[in-house]
Amino acid sequence: MKSKRSLVLLVLILTGYMNGIGAEIKNGRTAEKVDSLLSKMTLAEKIGQLNLYAGGWEFTGPVPADANNQQKYEMIKSGGVGAMLNVLTADGTREAQKLAVENSRLGIPLLIGYDVIHGYQTMMPIPLGQAASWEAEVARQGAQVAAREASASGVNWTFAPMMDIVRDARWGRMMESPGEDPYLASYMSKAWVEGFQGGDLSNPETIAACAKHFAAYGFAEAGRDYNTVDISMQTLYNMVLPPFKTASDAGVASFMNSFNEIGGVPANGSEMLQRKLLKGEWNYQGFVVSDWGSIGEMITHGYAADTLEAGYKALTAGSDMDMEARVYENSLEALVTSEKIDMSVLDDAVRRVLTIKYDLGLFDDPYRYCDADREKKELLSKENLRIAREAARKSIVLLKNENNLLPLSKKGQTIAVIGSLAGSKDVPLGSWRAQAITNSAVSLVEGIQNAVDKKTQVTFTNGYNLTQGNREFIRELNIVEGDQSDFSNAIELAKKSDVVVLALGEDCWQSGEGRSQTDIGLKGDQMDLMYELLKVNKNIVVTLMNGRSLAIPELDENIPAILEVWHLGSEAGNAIADVLFGDYNPSGKLPVSFPRNVGQCPIYYNHKNGGRPVTNPHDAGMVFWSHYTDSPNSPLYPFGYGLSYTSFEYSDLSISTTEMGTSDRLTASVKVKNTGDKTGQETVQLYIRDYVGSVTRPVKELKGFEKVQLEPGEERVVKFTISNETLSYYRADLSFGSEPGKFAVMIGGNSQKTLTTDFRLVD
Ligand code: BGC
Repeated sequence: MKSKRSLVLLVLILTGYMNGIGAEIKNGRTAEKVDSLLSKMTLAEKIGQLNLYAGGWEFTGPVPADANNQQKYEMIKSGGVGAMLNVLTADGTREAQKLAVENSRLGIPLLIGYDVIHGYQTMMPIPLGQAASWEAEVARQGAQVAAREASASGVNWTFAPMMDIVRDARWGRMMESPGEDPYLASYMSKAWVEGFQGGDLSNPETIAACAKHFAAYGFAEAGRDYNTVDISMQTLYNMVLPPFKTASDAGVASFMNSFNEIGGVPANGSEMLQRKLLKGEWNYQGFVVSDWGSIGEMITHGYAADTLEAGYKALTAGSDMDMEARVYENSLEALVTSEKIDMSVLDDAVRRVLTIKYDLGLFDDPYRYCDADREKKELLSKENLRIAREAARKSIVLLKNENNLLPLSKKGQTIAVIGSLAGSKDVPLGSWRAQAITNSAVSLVEGIQNAVDKKTQVTFTNGYNLTQGNREFIRELNIVEGDQSDFSNAIELAKKSDVVVLALGEDCWQSGEGRSQTDIGLKGDQMDLMYELLKVNKNIVVTLMNGRSLAIPELDENIPAILEVWHLGSEAGNAIADVLFGDYNPSGKLPVSFPRNVGQCPIYYNHKNGGRPVTNPHDAGMVFWSHYTDSPNSPLYPFGYGLSYTSFEYSDLSISTTEMGTSDRLTASVKVKNTGDKTGQETVQLYIRDYVGSVTRPVKELKGFEKVQLEPGEERVVKFTISNETLSYYRADLSFGSEPGKFAVMIGGNSQKTLTTDFRLVD
C-alpha cells in the first residue's frame, strides 16, 4: 500500500515537472534561500503568500472600522497576506510593509503592486499612442520614468505592460494595448518590460513588471469587456501569444491571467495556458497572478461549483496568486490538508512568489522602495517631463495634410483654438492614470500659447461640451448633447482667424476598462460644430484626442489636416504644438486600423483571404463577394499608416535570391528617398505573405521595420534579412515551422501601400 502511494507520488512529481511545477529556479543562491524559508513556513503562511489584497485605507492613519479592512490589517500582521495593491506613497507603503515585516512570525515583506500603466505621476502617452511611435526607446524610457517614480513611492510591482492584441475598437481597453499586430506588440512589450525592470530587479529604481492579460482578453466578443472569447488555436498561437512569449523570454517577473474563457475554460483554470505552455514549454520562472476577483468568477462562469472547486482548479492550473477573490484564503487549507492538492503544487506557487521578493531585494531591506526624499525629487521632475514630451511628440500620427496646411507658422497669425478638449488639462492624462494629479497636463491651448511669438493672436473657446458629472466612475458617461450655446462664439472666432485648431475626440473616460462602446464616432455636438465652422473657415486642423481608433469618415472628407494625438500625457499640449508648428516633423504610424464605421469591426490588416475576396473594384459592385453593400472593405486609415511634412518615395525593391532554402537567408532591399523639402523620419515596413499553407495564412504579416531619417533629396537602401524563422508559424498541430512554396515580400510605408515581389522557399 505504502509503495503504491509513493509510486503515485513519484508519478505526480514527474508529471509536475513536465507541466512546469518545480521548474529549476535560475539563480541557485536565491533558490537555496527560498527553500530554506519555505521549510520554516506553516501551511497558513504559505497560503498567505498567495493572497493579494487591495488597501482600502490610508496606511498612515487609523484603519477604518469596516470589518473587511480590520480583517485584512490583522491578516497582514499574521503573515496571511503576500502582496497588497493600491497602497500608496512612500510613507503609506512603509507602514504597510512594517505590518508584515515587524509583526508576522517570519517577517516576509510584501509585494506592493499598482497599475502603473503609462506613468505614475508624470504621464506618458497612453500605451496605444506609444505604440504609434514604433520606437522601443519611447517605451523603454517611459517605463523607466514610471518605475523611478513608482519605486520612490514604495511600489515594487506594476501590473503592466498590457500586451493584448486588439482588433475591435469597441473594446475600451484598446487604449492600454500596443495594437493589432503581434510583431509590433512584441517589440513594444519587450521594451516596456526592460524599462520597468532594468537589468537588475534589486536596483531600487526598478520594479517588477507583469505581462497581462494571459490570454486573448482582447478578443472579447463584440468588443464588450469581460465577454466570452472564442478563438482558434492558430489565432491564439500566431497572433495573441507572441508578445507574451517575448515577455517571458525577456524575464518579466510575473504574468496576470485574464477574465475571459478560452475554449470554455476561464483563463484562471487553464492548465493548457499556464502549466503546459507558460511554465512548461516556455519554462517560465516567475509567478502568475489572477486578475481582480477572477478566481471567484470561475463560479459565475459556470466552471466551478463553489469556492473549494474554484481554488482547486485555479491553483492546479497554475494561477499562483489570488487577487482579491479571497478564494485561496478560503479553500487552500482544506484542499491541502485533505490531500486534494499536493503540497508540492502549493510550494511551487509560493516558491515563485518568494523568488521575486528576493530578486527585488526586499529581504535585504524591505523599505528600500519607500523613500520619501526620493519621492519628492522624482515625481514630476523636469527630466521626467522632458522624456514625456519627447515620447508624446513621437506618438503623434499625421493622418491628412491637404495642400500642406501644416505645419503652421508661429509668427503673426491669428489662431482660433476651439473645443473643450483643447482646453482640458485633464483629458490628456488618459485612462489608467495612476497617481497623476487631476488637471495637471499641459492643455492644447496652453501648448500653443507657449509656442507662438508675441505677434500671434491665440483665441480659445469650448465650442462644445463633451462630458459632465463624475466622469471617472460612472457606467455611462454623461455625454453633453444639444448644448450649442457656445457655437456662436466659436464661429465668430473661426471667422476672424487665419486658421482654426479644432480639438475633437473622446473624453479619456470613454476608453479604458469597462468602457466598451457601440458607437465609435465623435459624440455630442462635435460634428455639428465642425460643419458650422467649415462654413466660415476652411483652414481647419483637427487634433484628434482619443483612446481607440475612431470612425471619422466625415473628418477625412471635409477637414484638410488631421493629427491623431491620442491621450498624450502630462506634456500633451507642448508636444502637439511641437508638431503643429513643425518643430517636430511627425513620424508616428498607426498601430491599429481605423475603420470607416463601427460595422467593420473587428477590422485588422493581417486577415485571411477567404474564398471570395474582392480582388478588383468591379467585384465590389457584384453581390456574391465578401463585401459590404454599403461600405468598402478597406479601413479609412490602414495599420502602419502615417504621413510626414516631407514625402517619401519607395523604389527598386529587390531580393537577393528568388529561391531560398530553409537554412538560407534572403536579403530584401528597397530604396527610400526623401522627395520633399524637410528632414523627416520614415518607418519602412516589411510584410510577408505565405500564399499556400497547411492552414490558411494571413494576406500579410509584419515581419520587420526600420525607422530612417532622411534629409531632403537623400535616399537610402533599407535592407531586411528573411530567415526560415521569419517564414515559420504555428501550424494545425501547433508545431512551429515553415512550409515550402511561394511567398511575397512587401515593403512600404504602410500595410496597404507596398512594393511587392515573390520568391520560393524550397526544402
Ligand atoms: C484589471 C487589471 C488590473 C487589476 C488591478 C483589473 O480589473 O483587469 O488589468 O491590473 O484590475 O487593478
